[in-house]
Amino acid sequence: MKILQGINVSTSYNTRVIHDSVSWSVNQAEIYGFLGGSGSGKTTLMKTMMSLKRPDSGKVLYDNKDMWNSSEKTKQDIRLECGTMFQFGALFGSMNILDNVGIMLKEYSKFTQAQIDEISHFWIQKVGLKKESAWLYPAELSGGMKKRAALARALVLSPRVLFLDEPNSGLDPVSSRQMDALVCQLRDTLGLSVVMVTHDADSIFDILDRFLIIENKKIAFEGNIAELEKLEHNPLEELFKTRKK
Ligand SMILES: Nc1ncnc2c1ncn2[C@@H]1O[C@H](COP(=O)(O)OP(=O)(O)OP(=O)(O)O)[C@@H](O)[C@H]1O
Ligand SMILES: [Mg+2]
Repeated sequence: MKILQGINVSTSYNTRVIHDSVSWSVNQAEIYGFLGGSGSGKTTLMKTMMSLKRPDSGKVLYDNKDMWNSSEKTKQDIRLECGTMFQFGALFGSMNILDNVGIMLKEYSKFTQAQIDEISHFWIQKVGLKKESAWLYPAELSGGMKKRAALARALVLSPRVLFLDEPNSGLDPVSSRQMDALVCQLRDTLGLSVVMVTHDADSIFDILDRFLIIENKKIAFEGNIAELEKLEHNPLEELFKTRKK
């Protein structure tokens, strides 16, 4: 079943066109990648699905609902079903990890503070952070721990969809593979649908179920690695070479 779909989506900033009538679809419980060079429009395209960038034309469907042409109530319901981890982490420096993780619950749920803390502790441990890290502030965390904390915050409302913008950027190889394993685990145990922007060759080959490649305002490819390998002109040829050495 399709959870997210873009149909003939065009976007621009001022007069500059970023996407020219592109279409894609994300199935439920798959890890779907957004690939393309720096500045090709991966983050922008993901924002059309995160209620952050309205397309100039075309539709974005969430669970067959037209996201950008629905009631405020529906829009809000959709937003609450989607967890997001931004490209640049963005934890609140003045709050400890427990409060950073719980902030969406505080904002959008009727739970008591004790319940919020309990749920936050659950997710902090689920993403592989130690229980005690709940009391630390963002400045006291390593890059990998910050990413995990940001992921816990994205998961705290038990979303159906998770948006990850470069979850592995800035992580060492071991932390990157741990992050990949975690994302797979979320798909497999919770049936989460994951949309992620990535440049990481290992993630692309090992954990993406399907992906799209943006090139020159268009989608140059949508499918899986096996399908890509059959193409005469493979947009990831250079990446393939580095892997096969
Ligand atoms: N808020 C904005 N206002 C104006 N132009 C923008 C804005 N955000 C992005 N752009 C431009 O749109 C283009 C696509 O940007 P986007 O951030 O989507 O690229 P990206 O593929 O995510 O790049 P990266 O891999 O570097 O993160 C870029 O040329 C960028 O300069
Ligand atoms: Mg980006």
